[in-house]
Amino acid sequence: MDRKHQYQPSDLDSFRAILGPKGFSDDPHEMAPWLQDWRGLYHGKARAILSPSSTQEVSAIVAEACAAGVPLVPQGGNTSMVGGATPDESGAAVILSLRRLNRIRSLDADQGVVAEAGVILSHLHDVAETIGSRFPLSLGAKGSATVGGLVSTNAGGTQVLRFGTMRNLVLGLEAVLPDGKVFNGLAPLKKDNRGYDLTQLLIGAEGTLGVVTAATLRLVPAVADRAVAWAGVESPAMALALLRALEAQSGPAVESFELIPDDALHVVLKHIPGTRAPLSTQHRWHVLIDYVAEAGAQAALQALLEAAMQGDLVQDAAIATSLSQADAFWRLRESISEAERAEAPLLSHDISVSVEHMPAFMEQAALAIRSRFPSVSVTAYGHLGDGNVHLHVRGQRGDDAASWRQSTGKAASDFVYTLVSDAGGSISAEHGIGQMKRDTLELLSDPVRMQVLRSIKNALDPAGIMNPGKLVSLAPAPQKP
Ligand code: MLT
Ligand code: ZN
Repeated sequence: MDRKHQYQPSDLDSFRAILGPKGFSDDPHEMAPWLQDWRGLYHGKARAILSPSSTQEVSAIVAEACAAGVPLVPQGGNTSMVGGATPDESGAAVILSLRRLNRIRSLDADQGVVAEAGVILSHLHDVAETIGSRFPLSLGAKGSATVGGLVSTNAGGTQVLRFGTMRNLVLGLEAVLPDGKVFNGLAPLKKDNRGYDLTQLLIGAEGTLGVVTAATLRLVPAVADRAVAWAGVESPAMALALLRALEAQSGPAVESFELIPDDALHVVLKHIPGTRAPLSTQHRWHVLIDYVAEAGAQAALQALLEAAMQGDLVQDAAIATSLSQADAFWRLRESISEAERAEAPLLSHDISVSVEHMPAFMEQAALAIRSRFPSVSVTAYGHLGDGNVHLHVRGQRGDDAASWRQSTGKAASDFVYTLVSDAGGSISAEHGIGQMKRDTLELLSDPVRMQVLRSIKNALDPAGIMNPGKLVSLAPAPQKP
């Protein structure tokens, strides 16, 4: 019997029966924190939160939801930057929390770590450390972000330069597909030509093609010796030239290379207590460098930076002399978003263009945005070596945040995305599409891309129960007149 459309709130009992009291809640107080994203930008409703503790339970829930036509919103640490884990306001969905599915199934320096979807990133770091290894991906939300979310958003962070995004770090995957069947691709095969790469298809799918339940993740040796430097540079072009010079001389030793404009540094110094500028000299741009070696990292980086100063690539530089100073340098970088939000309302755009084109793009885009929207400030900072910056468009102090976002902010955002698209870039380099950018993706993407995305969605989730309203919808967007 087709049970679709017969779903009633009382049918929640079948989920309750599968999960028991520990795995089921429809208590409004317990549910409240999970019905909005961490920044409070998106609010939704849900009938219940389901918290399975095994892949079998996930499978049983999804099969039941598929049969009854119940939309599922997978959720890990709820740290999405794009409303990717927040249900819509219809109240039809149930949240599928993966937080109880949090075991480390196996750990091996060569074969990788098999971590369940609910394992928190900082815990994964600690676990890897116990065998002298590390998982080389980190980001600001590491204390909450979970493996399932990191996989589903193809997370990036500050070490992509050397180790790549999650796409490069996932060696295998286990997922429950929208009909409840389990795809077991956990084996860490170096070579595998059995057709379409289903693991890669599920990475970055934002929970729209199934629920990631576990991943085999690559480990690399723990850091032996590390040096952290802060350098003043003339321009993004000079910063990129510096990166290329460092890479030419030291290969993969440069693990992080983050670009910071001077005005962003000043906003951090103004709003974040206990921060101070690493250099006493003034510079228009700064870079933060993590350099890793077997031994002698500090001396090697110092020699490289001295040579760069002689070649006029660097204006001034300081190398952290203690772990706490290194942390202080990184704190400046990691506080930019928070400080800029404290300064005035802002909209952040995580965009990419080809790496070599990024310095020119940053300059042209800032000029174009300021001339069209004279009241806004523009800063762009971040992962220059990945061709990815976070371009902030900021209103004025005192602007009402909500109305600015809907008026000038919205118009400026649309303009930024058009500039990026025209430059052949991406409107989402790392945060994903979620609900925030879904319409922009439809509007600005090549129709061929959207057609293929939609065909895949239709093939795997014809009932549209997996994370509806995110990334891509089953039906094409209405044609514009
Ligand atoms: C970062 O690199 O700091 C984040 O991805 C940007 C953000 O929090 O907006
Ligand atoms: Zn970033």
